[in-house]
Amino acid sequence: MTIPREFIQELLTRIEIIDLIDGRLPLRKKSNNNYFACCPFHTEKSASFSVSQQKQFYYCFGCGAHGNAIDFLMQYDHLNFKEAVAALAQLAGIEVPKSDSTTSSEPIIDQGIYELLDAVANQYKQQLRKHPKAIQYLKQRGISGEMAKEFCIGFAPAGWEYLLQTFGKTAALKQQLFAAGLLIKKDDGSFYDRFRERIMFPIQDRRGRVIGFGGRTIDQTEPKYLNSPETTLFQKGHELYGLYQTLTIHRQLQKVLIVEGYLDVIALFQYQITYALATLGTATTAAHLKRLSRYTSEIIFCFDGDLAGRTAAWRALLVFLPLMRDDLQIKFMFLPDGEDPDSLVRKEGAAFFAEKIKEAWTFSHFFFHHMMELADLTHLDGRARFIKLATTHLNQLPEGGVFKQMMFEELARKTRTHVDQLLQKSPKSSNYPRKFIKIRSPSPLRLAMSLLLQEPSLVKILDKPLPLLDTPGLATFVELIDIIKKNNVTTPAALREYWRDHPLQKTFAKLAQMEHVISEKGLTHEFKGAISHLHKMSQEKNIESLLTKAASKGLSFDEKKQLNDLIHAKNKVSSATDE
Ligand code: UTP
Ligand code: MN
Repeated sequence: MTIPREFIQELLTRIEIIDLIDGRLPLRKKSNNNYFACCPFHTEKSASFSVSQQKQFYYCFGCGAHGNAIDFLMQYDHLNFKEAVAALAQLAGIEVPKSDSTTSSEPIIDQGIYELLDAVANQYKQQLRKHPKAIQYLKQRGISGEMAKEFCIGFAPAGWEYLLQTFGKTAALKQQLFAAGLLIKKDDGSFYDRFRERIMFPIQDRRGRVIGFGGRTIDQTEPKYLNSPETTLFQKGHELYGLYQTLTIHRQLQKVLIVEGYLDVIALFQYQITYALATLGTATTAAHLKRLSRYTSEIIFCFDGDLAGRTAAWRALLVFLPLMRDDLQIKFMFLPDGEDPDSLVRKEGAAFFAEKIKEAWTFSHFFFHHMMELADLTHLDGRARFIKLATTHLNQLPEGGVFKQMMFEELARKTRTHVDQLLQKSPKSSNYPRKFIKIRSPSPLRLAMSLLLQEPSLVKILDKPLPLLDTPGLATFVELIDIIKKNNVTTPAALREYWRDHPLQKTFAKLAQMEHVISEKGLTHEFKGAISHLHKMSQEKNIESLLTKAASKGLSFDEKKQLNDLIHAKNKVSSATDE
């Protein structure tokens, strides 16, 4: 279900971003249109967080956080896009239109499904009380009644049709239970229960709504754990077990500990370590990390201490490399052989476990430790091999970050080389942001794009078609202009919504960040300059190719005239810009 764009534009014009932010984070007025505060998204003493009333956009000079009212709620209140829109709509006193779902090809999952899943979780919870065997199991695992309540633990009774009979009273309900993954369809089209005779752990989203289940056997039945299949509601690579409970306790999360199992989260919680989350039977993904970095700046991953654990940790590290923002701290904790967090905290206690967390390895420690196991640094060729391997990995770190610089410095120290040498060695990465961050003055095209993102109304200045240049970004620039013209976009806040899901959104975000370096007054001037630079570039290209032709094959009468005009125009432009 997508929210119509027109509605979002309307919403953004109704919301005053200054009021929205000021309600959560007191703003100081600096100049007529600009407000400042200490940035809520990174730690700082001086106020680098600026909000522009005119642009309805915020930007942090310190960490680069930026966006419109929707982005602010997403970042500050940890909401997803739809939730942020809903919250703003409520503020503005308007209703989010429901687009008709008949055109959607997705399985029918409507709002009612949340209520149904909630009812199912409750039913399982009640069944737990009626099954001493299940209670006995939880007791024997050391789970307190309080925890059972906190995590809404339940029990799915034995039999093939318990849920089917209790909830699947109509064809529509059966269909819903099936869509939610609670029923399995037989070849003949009839259904049976997925979860039978299992302890049930409801999986909640960050708002506490049940979106899936994990079920553990209480005997030797395989598999030990059965999880809801992926549905539109429940995507394993995104969700984390325990997030709801953790966020209920901590408004601002200092750190999170990522563990493997449901029972690890619950045991730690019972021992007052209330910031553990579990991935749901999948390896940690980039999506997990991105999600987590919205809530906290320190993430500790817990792995088994054995070889398999180390390998899994290394694999995770490689996934994280490109995502290592400077303000994100990632650590690796290795458990003693044969223990998991559940067994360890019960055996050694909370204080011991907390101490273990403190001893977790930093990203760089683990990186170099692992790399050094692969090479012998006492020999020249060992060092060369080491450098080659390490630079390949380290080049994946985000460009321009302090962290990357520090990792290269450490590599230089370890291999007794000079850091400049290493950075030279690194193959040029093909991503364009690299160049983009380093070079102070951007290309005219990038400058023009960035200005347009800052001030969409600049399109009015474009009085003639853009020149045809085979510059890679030109098509994107033209697309941007079209979006603005077609939709009559007037503010950066509104424009933001047209590139939020655009394939080039990363590029746009980079460009949008750059914008603020230029003062508002200089915008028109800068934009004109950038555009005329583009025309000049195109003229020069044309002149060059005509001259080349003149030297080889000679020019026709028309071409000679064209060349003449071009040179004439060129001189005119340069004298106009020289003034
Ligand atoms: P473990 O096998 O390490 O179990 O699975 P555990 O969490 O220590 O569970 P207990 O202590 O024996 O009860 C860790 C996680 O891997 C997923 C589950 O999410 C589980 O919590 N898993 C495990 C499955 O999805 N299916 C399985 O069959 C086993
Ligand atoms: Mn366990």
